[in-house]
Formats: sequence, C-alpha cells, structure tokens
Amino acid sequence: MKVNFKNILITGSGSGLGRAMAIRLAEEGYNIILNGRTESKLAETEKMLKKFQIDVLIKAGDVSDSNFVSSMISEIVTEKKELHGVINNAGISGISSSILDISEEDMQKIMDINFKGA
Ligand SMILES: NC(=O)c1ccc[n+]([C@@H]2O[C@H](COP(=O)([O-])OP(=O)(O)OC[C@H]3O[C@@H](n4cnc5c(N)ncnc54)[C@H](OP(=O)(O)O)[C@@H]3O)[C@@H](O)[C@H]2O)c1
Repeated sequence: MKVNFKNILITGSGSGLGRAMAIRLAEEGYNIILNGRTESKLAETEKMLKKFQIDVLIKAGDVSDSNFVSSMISEIVTEKKELHGVINNAGISGISSSILDISEEDMQKIMDINFKGA
C-alpha cells in the first residue's frame, strides 16, 4: 500500500545508505526531505526521485551545527506543515587505523557529527 503525504527527513541522503533509503521510501509514496552538506550530491539524489510522484525538499547543511538543525526543522514544519519521521543517518566513520592513534580533533569531529548530530 502506498503511503501518501507523509514527510520524512533523511539526513546524509546525498549518497550511500541515505540515498538508498530515500529511493525506497519514495517508491512507497513518502515525501522526502534530503539533507547533507554537499548541495550537488543532494541534487543528484533529487534527480533519482523525479520518477516517483512525491514532493522533494532539499535542506543542505551540517547536522553537527545545532543552529542549523533548529532552523532546518522550523523551515520544514513551516513549509510542509508536518514532519512525520526522521532517519538520523548522517555520519562519518573517521577511524581508519587504531582508535589509539586518532587525534583529539578527529575524535571531536566524530562525536559532533555522529553523536551530537543525532
Ligand atoms: N555503510 C556501512 O557499512 C555502515 C556501517 C555502519 C554504520 N554506517 C553508518 O551509516 C551511515 C551511512 O553510511 P554510508 O555508508 O551510507 O556513508 P556515506 O555514503 O559516507 O554517507 C554519509 C552521508 O552523510 C553525509 N554527512 C556526513 N557528515 C554530515 C554532516 N555533518 N551533516 C550532514 N550530512 C553529513 C554525507 O554527505 P556530505 O559529506 O555531503 O555532508 C554523506 O552523504 C553513517 O552514519 C555510517 O557511519 C554505515
């Protein structure tokens, strides 16, 4: 059964799992709000959603920035009236070798995006 008029925000939907989830939910009739830091990647995902008859909104920005997140949510609620679900997918792995070798700055970045961003 197609689910119409439900608005779902997917963070980190300019690539990978976020993009795949956007396509899958669009197939089911959900309206999708795309988020990520890189506009061109979001535009590419938006193109892939064109064939589904749903509304797509792009909100580019960094989920580790709480001011951005607050404005994004306010804008979505203003523009779409309701936000029915959020998929907190944006994240980085960041650790390419031993955790013992990671710099404090890189660890902070991971915490800001993966933990605080969620
Ligand atoms: N793939 C796996 O096997 C796997 C396994 C375990 C966990 N995960 C987790 O699942 C999620 C998706 O993984 P993936 O493999 O699809 O990774 P991916 O292709 O790198 O996608 C992550 C997306 O998040 C966005 N992003 C990163 N930092 C962001 C930020 N601060 N604000 C907004 N968007 C941000 C990136 O776009 P921009 O750089 O343009 O912002 C990117 O489009 C991640 O959280 C990852 O850690 C994945």
